Amino acid sequence: MSDNRSEYARRRAAFAAKIGDAVAILPSAPETIRTNDSHYLYRQDTDLHYLTGFDEPESVLVLAPGHATTKSVLFVRPRDPERETWDGRRAGVEGAVRDFGVDAAYPIGELDAKLPELLDSAPTLFYAFDRDDVFNRRIVSLLKGYRSSRRRADGGPLTLVDPSTVLHELRVFKSPADIEGMRRAGGISREAHVAAMACSRPGMHEYEIQAIVEYVFTSRGAQYPAYPSIVASGPNATILHYVSNRRRVGDDDLVLIDAGAEVDLYCADITRTWPMSGKFTPEQRAVYDIVLAAQARCIELCKPGVAFNTVVNEAATRVIAEGLIDLGLIKGPLDEAIASGAYKRFYMHRIGHFLGMDTHDVGSMREARDWRLLQPGMVLTIEPGLYVPDEDGIDARFRGIGVRIEDNLLITPGGHDNLTDGTPKSIEDVERTIAEGREARTPLPV
Ligand code: GLY
Ligand code: MN
Ligand code: MN
Repeated sequence: MSDNRSEYARRRAAFAAKIGDAVAILPSAPETIRTNDSHYLYRQDTDLHYLTGFDEPESVLVLAPGHATTKSVLFVRPRDPERETWDGRRAGVEGAVRDFGVDAAYPIGELDAKLPELLDSAPTLFYAFDRDDVFNRRIVSLLKGYRSSRRRADGGPLTLVDPSTVLHELRVFKSPADIEGMRRAGGISREAHVAAMACSRPGMHEYEIQAIVEYVFTSRGAQYPAYPSIVASGPNATILHYVSNRRRVGDDDLVLIDAGAEVDLYCADITRTWPMSGKFTPEQRAVYDIVLAAQARCIELCKPGVAFNTVVNEAATRVIAEGLIDLGLIKGPLDEAIASGAYKRFYMHRIGHFLGMDTHDVGSMREARDWRLLQPGMVLTIEPGLYVPDEDGIDARFRGIGVRIEDNLLITPGGHDNLTDGTPKSIEDVERTIAEGREARTPLPV
């Protein structure tokens, strides 16, 4: 049951206003087998959730703003007491209309029979062909039907448009309800990172720390981690998407945790890096200071009118390249080090991405041919890093050190609001959080 009906209705109205007399077909995410007959935990297609809050599989939303009576229609699994005993409650046709505010609902089995009535007079169909090949075949066969009958009668759309052009642009700009959801995800994730610092002890494995992080997520109401949690110790921290989390953490290792909660489909994406010993070594501190300075510089720049992928991204590159020259890991002068890309051996990703109901959220970073400018309502990550590979020719003191620091920023009219602020980040705060946890013998955060 959706408790946020007016928000979903507002989003449908905004989408409908953009597509005019076209029709949009938005299917649910397919269920995916994990082993034999057991499925991965189901996660609704984000676009369908965004427009309805309806989170059951085998459903389809059809929006037909030009239709005389049924402008929004959900096709859903019908009630079925036996199946519901095995797999959980269903809203059914009545519940879909009553609880999700659409004009009409039908059993999913009637989709093919009902679609022509909704689609016959629409000049344009909005449908995304990049999701589900099985569903694509139904759309292709529907379009073929129109083509073969066109000699006899007009009907059916002649233009196909990817709904992302409209829908994902709406999703870039967070509403007050979105921002509240993003804050909740950020707050739970902040608490999880603090718990990891305070409750970890030398001798633990990466997966034990992962358990602390995900315990906080789940116990605070998050339905999933927003993405596989990265708990990378020592040299594993130089692997960007390390997720196996099996290693025993060395006593003098850094631990890089990149983990965020997903709460009612809102994602957080936080990275912190801290020493298992409780104290940064001089080399760890030197690398950390560069990443922290790069992050601070980028955060300071985030405000409306600034080009994220040039101004903010390039600011990070400059601070990091300068730091690498100071450490002797690459050669100056700075402008040459940047032009040659020498720093990319140690910093090979960009500064961040949109964040929302998808971790790497939708929406184009470009506008026409240019990088787009930041605007109020956007949420982005700021996540510089430095990853020193364990390779010949690199100063042995720094080899295997990996540091990333990541926060989630909402762009506001006056600048930005850090949704993950308060997650310890300065060396002083990080060391204090670890020390206090150990002094207090902080157990799991209940
Ligand atoms: N956690 C994935 C990322 O930071 O982009
Ligand atoms: Mn991340
Ligand atoms: Mn990220």
